[in-house]
Amino acid sequence: MRKGIIENYRAFLPVTEATPVVSLAEGDTPLIEAPRLAAWLGVGAQLRVFLKFEGMNPTGSFKDRGMTLAISKAVEKGARVVMCASTGNTSAAAAAYAARAGLACVVLLPRGEVALGKLSQALIHGAQVLGVDGGFDEALCLVREITGSHPVELVNSVNPFRIEGQKTAAFEIVDTLGDAPDYHAMPVGNAGNITAYWKGYKEYQSAGRATRTPRMLGFQAAGAAPLVDGAPVLSPKTIATAIRIGNPASWAGAIAARDESGGLIDKVTDEQILEAYAALASTEGVFAEPACAAPVAGLKMLAARGFFGDAPATVTVTLTGHGLKDPDRAIATAATAIREVASTRDAVLAALDMSEIQPAAAVMAL
Ligand code: F0G
Repeated sequence: MRKGIIENYRAFLPVTEATPVVSLAEGDTPLIEAPRLAAWLGVGAQLRVFLKFEGMNPTGSFKDRGMTLAISKAVEKGARVVMCASTGNTSAAAAAYAARAGLACVVLLPRGEVALGKLSQALIHGAQVLGVDGGFDEALCLVREITGSHPVELVNSVNPFRIEGQKTAAFEIVDTLGDAPDYHAMPVGNAGNITAYWKGYKEYQSAGRATRTPRMLGFQAAGAAPLVDGAPVLSPKTIATAIRIGNPASWAGAIAARDESGGLIDKVTDEQILEAYAALASTEGVFAEPACAAPVAGLKMLAARGFFGDAPATVTVTLTGHGLKDPDRAIATAATAIREVASTRDAVLAALDMSEIQPAAAVMAL
């Protein structure tokens, strides 16, 4: 039975018997081997690629891991209201866990830049949703200012409990594979998650649960790549709205993860992201939101450069959010579209591309 990350990893988390656990049975997400995607990446012969599909969490993203802990600790402390800025997924998780705990929730979103699924979640869970006239970075500044001077609990990843909860994804990967992978690839926006994974991998190694740590490979969108460019980006731009962030709060954590692990942080264009987004869905049947395609595109780029050499290796990729979060983007990107036909056998058969359809003789005879 799924018990949630606090019960599963209690010994590694800052909770006591007095902490009221607010959970939606998050975590325990699948690690899916992806040989067809590996072939698409051009590394099929030598790399084993595994997808950590975080879209399978209760609100459809990795944010649930951090939010179960942040909300549990907020309740323990006696908070009544929580608040966050968000590109969408944090607000969906905050609204859901706040509803479960009976807390009020306020979210600040960059107006007009949040994927439809995410907005629908914050609204249906009853959060007060404000669309600010600015990007995520401005929204987070406002939230820090307001929570600093009001009795309102900040639940962005600058809240350390968020990072603590999110590190459990690294634990799960090691528990499933039996050791840490050689490489771990993931998208980077506000940089809390790469900070959390690196913390998790290090802690598991110290505890003797893993013999090694992976090289961390972070990927940003080219129009929102402050960590790669070395300076904040004032007007970040990318179709991967989840990671449209110009001044990551966990900047230092991301750089430490990169340098301590012997990894890298690189950037990929929106074109590369969209190509990888479609490839992931069509080669493996895994539907993840556009931001998750950044590391997939990044791996393809590294493979083309010969980065992985010839030795066999294992790479895990975090797919941070479900594709259903952003249905508009899927419909706009898909190679096919719905076509209207009359409801007759002849019309349906005439409309189909029969070259790809080779039915068995018995079926034809029907
Ligand atoms: N992928 C998805 C789907 C996200 O929603 C986010 C961040 C990231 C990757 C990047 O993670 O910020 O820890 O580096 N979303 C935040 C939000 C900013 O508000 O939902 P990060």
